[in-house]
Amino acid sequence: MQHQDIEMTINTVNASSNNELVIAFMGKGGTGKTFTSLGLIQSLRNLDKAMIVADADTNRSLSRYLTSHYLGYGEEELKELPLMTLAEQDFYEFQQLDSEQLYRDFYGTQFNEVKKFSVEPPDLFTQKYTKALDDKLALMSVGTSALRMEELYSNRCSHATLNPLKAWIALSTKGIVVLDCGGGEDAGRFGLPIGANVVVVVVEATPDAIAISEDIRAIDEELGIPVVYVLNKCLNQFPEVEAFEAEHGDNIVGKIPFIPTIYGKNPLKVFDEIEGIFTPMVEKILSVKLSSPQQRWERVLRWQERLQYQRESKKSQPFSFIS
Ligand SMILES: Nc1ncnc2c1ncn2[C@@H]1O[C@H](COP(=O)(O)OP(=O)(O)OP(=O)(O)O)[C@@H](O)[C@H]1O
Ligand SMILES: [Mg+2]
Repeated sequence: MQHQDIEMTINTVNASSNNELVIAFMGKGGTGKTFTSLGLIQSLRNLDKAMIVADADTNRSLSRYLTSHYLGYGEEELKELPLMTLAEQDFYEFQQLDSEQLYRDFYGTQFNEVKKFSVEPPDLFTQKYTKALDDKLALMSVGTSALRMEELYSNRCSHATLNPLKAWIALSTKGIVVLDCGGGEDAGRFGLPIGANVVVVVVEATPDAIAISEDIRAIDEELGIPVVYVLNKCLNQFPEVEAFEAEHGDNIVGKIPFIPTIYGKNPLKVFDEIEGIFTPMVEKILSVKLSSPQQRWERVLRWQERLQYQRESKKSQPFSFIS
């Protein structure tokens, strides 16, 4: 498919949703989330739309690969990136929240009463917490835990520092957002990708990784987020992998072989070798029916109502070890 055709597809698919596409990557540790997101990011660039890459993983692989490729950064410069985990005050100001207000209240606010974020042109908050990589691509990063020592001694849950990112994902409009959630189902448990249009679960083609991907899928499904899969590092034919393929059929948007020559390398430096894998993947992801920004925010509201319900039903039940 030509670039023009891909552009037409995205315009058609997103006509009702103001042209945004928010893709979150999840998966067990080491399955290839960062590799796959980078391949997809490079392919999505052909659409010539503004894109923000959000790196929610404290190992900063995505930030490292992107800044090294686009800005020639090393480890020291990486520490200078603006951090979303320090954005709380600005987030409150942008949304005009009272400093006493809890995120809980904010997440319960109706769609027409919350301010939306914009990828293109970027609003002031988005501009402050992203680093431009070139004129169409910018990076948003959470940084390492080591840079946020206060979390180590804080009595607040460290997940709370991800609230500005979580809300930004749910309320971002007008452009493409790619989110690397980091390894495991943790990001799902505290709802980080709840506002994404689609979650891509990267599954290593082994029996163990397939079993773990089921936990991730179950959480995304409970939150109401559409899920598609990429099978990565396909090497041996396991019956469990074949069964997985038979079960998920159309929801598998790509199968990537294990490619020894690219192992451990910056995918952006070897993109020529892998480009052919990612172009059809972009097309398949674009063919997923996308939710409108309002529907994405409704998921947050639903989740918030459910939390409230749990809280209240807990209060009315006497505590017991034997349930
Ligand atoms: N298809 C592949 N063929 C060969 N090597 C691969 C392939 N996919 C990923 N890798 C390699 O596997 C390693 C892990 O990949 P990657 O960092 O993308 O995984 P991840 O899921 O993001 O890991 P983490 O959970 O630590 O963030 C990297 O060294 C990468 O080069
Ligand atoms: Mg990674």
